[in-house]
Amino acid sequence: MKITVIGAGNVGATCANVIAEKELANEVVLIDIKDGLSEGKSLDMWQTAPINLYDSRIVGYTNDYSKTAGSSVVVITSGLPRKPGMSRDDLIATNAGIVKSVTDNVIAHSPDAIIIVVSNPLDVMTYVAYLTAKVDSRKVFGMAGILDTARYRAFLAEALNVSPKDIQAMLLGGHGDTMVPLPRYTTVSGIPVTELIDADKLDAIIERTKKGGGELVNLMGTSAWYAPGAAAAQMVEAIVRDQKRIFPCCALLNGEYGLNNIYLGVPVKLGKNGIEQIIELQLNADEKKLLTESAAAVKEVMDVYDAMVNSATA
Ligand code: NAI
Ligand code: 2OP
Repeated sequence: MKITVIGAGNVGATCANVIAEKELANEVVLIDIKDGLSEGKSLDMWQTAPINLYDSRIVGYTNDYSKTAGSSVVVITSGLPRKPGMSRDDLIATNAGIVKSVTDNVIAHSPDAIIIVVSNPLDVMTYVAYLTAKVDSRKVFGMAGILDTARYRAFLAEALNVSPKDIQAMLLGGHGDTMVPLPRYTTVSGIPVTELIDADKLDAIIERTKKGGGELVNLMGTSAWYAPGAAAAQMVEAIVRDQKRIFPCCALLNGEYGLNNIYLGVPVKLGKNGIEQIIELQLNADEKKLLTESAAAVKEVMDVYDAMVNSATA
C-alpha cells in the first residue's frame, strides 16, 4: 500500500510523519514543488524510524508524480497558509491554481486514489479537486471537521478538567467563522455537556472554536500544523483500515440537509471506499438556520471560484 502526501510544508510533513508512525502504508511518498524539501524532510523522518520503531518507508521527490503512481490515498496540503490578517478565503486564487494542477497530476498516476484535501479555503479547494479529478464525490473530500471538533473538545476538556478522550462532539458547516459546533450532540462519556457546564461558558468555547484557526495564526504568524496533520492522518487511517468511523468531513451534498451541489462539513462514515454514508442529523430550527448561513458563506466563495473559471474560459 502506498500513500502520498502532496506538500511537504508544515501540515504535509506532520501528516506524513503520523501516517508513517502509525504504519498505515508500506510506502509514504512526500511531494513538493520546492527543490529538495520533500527529499530532506522525508530523509529526516525516515531517520526517526529506528528510534520510534516503525517500518513504513518515507520517500520524498520534487514534483515527480511518477513516483506517486498507484497510491491508494492522496492527501493534498499544497498551497499557501494563512498569514495574520488574511482570511482563509483570501487564499482562493493562488491555492485553486495549485490544487487544480496537483489534482491533475495525482489522477494521471493514481486514477483510483481517494483524495483528501486540506488546502484552504478548504470547502472550495475540495470542490476544485472534485471538478478536476472527475471521479465519484465519495472519493474526494476535505479535512476540517476533525480539526475543528478537536479544538472544541480540547477547550471543553480544559474547562471541565476532564480527559479529552471522554469528550465526543459533532460539528457541521464550512471551515470558517460560520462553522456550526453542536452542543446538543456534545457529550462527556455519554453525559450531555449542557449538564456539566454553564451556557455562558459553553457559548464562549463555541466562539473560541470558530476562531480557533485565527487564534493560532495570530500567535505563530502562520497557520497550525500539528492538529491539522494528525486530523488528516486520522482520516487516512479510517480509510486504509476500513474502520467505518463517523467523522465530520467536508463532503459533496446532493440533497442532504436540503442542500445541493455544495461541499460542506457533515457527519460521514469513512471506510475503504471513502465516504460510505452521509449522516443526516435531525436539526432543530436554530441549528438549521446556522447551517444555512454557513452554506451561504461557502457558496459565496464557490461562486467566486466559478466566476474566475468562467472569465478565464470566456
Ligand atoms: P506550508 O507553506 O508550510 O506548506 C505548503 C507547501 O506546499 C510548501 O512546502 C510549498 O512549497 C508547497 N507547494 C506549493 N505549491 C505546490 C505545488 N504546486 N505542488 C506541490 N507543492 C506545492 O503551509 P502549511 O502550513 O503546510 O499549510 C498548507 C495548506 O493547508 C494551506 O493552504 C493552509 O491554509 C491549509 N490548512 C488547512 C487546514 C484545514 O483544517 N483544512 C488546517 C491548516 C492548514
Ligand atoms: C486552521 O484552522 C488555518 O485552516 C487553518 O488552523
